[in-house]
Amino acid sequence: MRLLVTGGCGFIGTNFILLMKERHPDWKIFNLDKLTYAGNRKNLLKLEQDENSGYTFLHGDIGDREFVTAVLHDHKIDAIVNFAAESHVDRSINDPAPFLSTNIMGTQNLMECARQAGTEKFVHVSTDEVYGSLGPDEPAFSEKNPLQPNSPYSASKAGADLMARAYFETYGFPVSITRCSNNYGPYQFPEKLIPLMFLKATAGEKLPVYGDGSNIRDWIYVDDHCTGVELTLLKGRPGQVYNFGGAAEKTNLELIREMLHLLNRDESLISYVKDRPGHDKRYAMDFKLAEKELGFTPKTSFRQGIGKTIEWYTANREWLEDVRSGAYREFMENWYGERK
Ligand code: NAD
Ligand code: TYD
Repeated sequence: MRLLVTGGCGFIGTNFILLMKERHPDWKIFNLDKLTYAGNRKNLLKLEQDENSGYTFLHGDIGDREFVTAVLHDHKIDAIVNFAAESHVDRSINDPAPFLSTNIMGTQNLMECARQAGTEKFVHVSTDEVYGSLGPDEPAFSEKNPLQPNSPYSASKAGADLMARAYFETYGFPVSITRCSNNYGPYQFPEKLIPLMFLKATAGEKLPVYGDGSNIRDWIYVDDHCTGVELTLLKGRPGQVYNFGGAAEKTNLELIREMLHLLNRDESLISYVKDRPGHDKRYAMDFKLAEKELGFTPKTSFRQGIGKTIEWYTANREWLEDVRSGAYREFMENWYGERK
């Protein structure tokens, strides 16, 4: 297979490419990435420097019609997995515009170029956040739930999902959509909860918990999500949405306490700060369809996954230092400055 992965220098894209290269060494993988603040080309440098790896890096924007068309043509792409996105809710609250531009317009451009090129398979990677927020006793989100996004990030992802649906219904474009809960694991940018708390706890700094810490997320180890995307690529039906989850619901406070315990740090580091506006209360996923149709199951328990993740960040501390650019620091200072 000649596979185009977009956003492969980000957190999930990096893990996906590494895993697919291990599982399918014969696949030719092309990674198209704009290298925003969240993209790190060095993640896959070993593959890039190995002439026989079957991996090629392509610097560009999914919204660039000419560039994408040339990539699909020149590299004879069979299938596309679209991870490229602006992905951080807090940044979307600060400035929604880039979210619309990449997540909606960029995805539409990518699908249009693929439709023109006759690409046979397109997996669009989306999120549980498009469903909105659950009450404590409500059943987990199924693929049939209405889309009720609450943040500019989730609204932009829902916009792309609806456009993908329209491309399937209108043009018969072979797109499947995956929606997954919160991922964690190696290479996650330290603006998201788990790597941020690792960074702060190990530096002996206060851990900013939004509101009272009772918001609930379902956590999935990144390799399990990547397996879900792989199964969708290989077996997913065009026009179908598949939910993926880790069956590991936790309040933020439970999760942070577990991390502090594993890091041997004191709970007095916890600091309650002003809540995120529009903060979704709870996410939980019903992924029975993916179990039945794709044979998906989350294999990594939260305990195993968080252990591996902490081990990775401990061994790769320089990666964390390396990705924190000036733009990162500026955003973090402003955002957390306002939450005090
Ligand atoms: P990330 O922010 O770590 O990485 C995004 C990558 O996309 C970066 O490498 C960035 O440079 C690239 N990119 C951004 N705009 C681009 C553009 N216009 N053209 C080309 N490349 C561009 O994100 P992530 O956490 O790896 O998430 C990947 C995908 O999975 C996103 O679509 C996200 O919505 C979805 N998702 C994430 C989670 C999660 O918990 N992180 C959960 C469910 C779904
Ligand atoms: P995050 O990792 O940003 O993912 P998402 O908002 O997409 O689910 O946040 C996970 C949860 O952690 C969410 O409920 C917000 C909360 N949170 C904090 O309490 N403090 C923080 O500094 C961050 C980044 C998140």
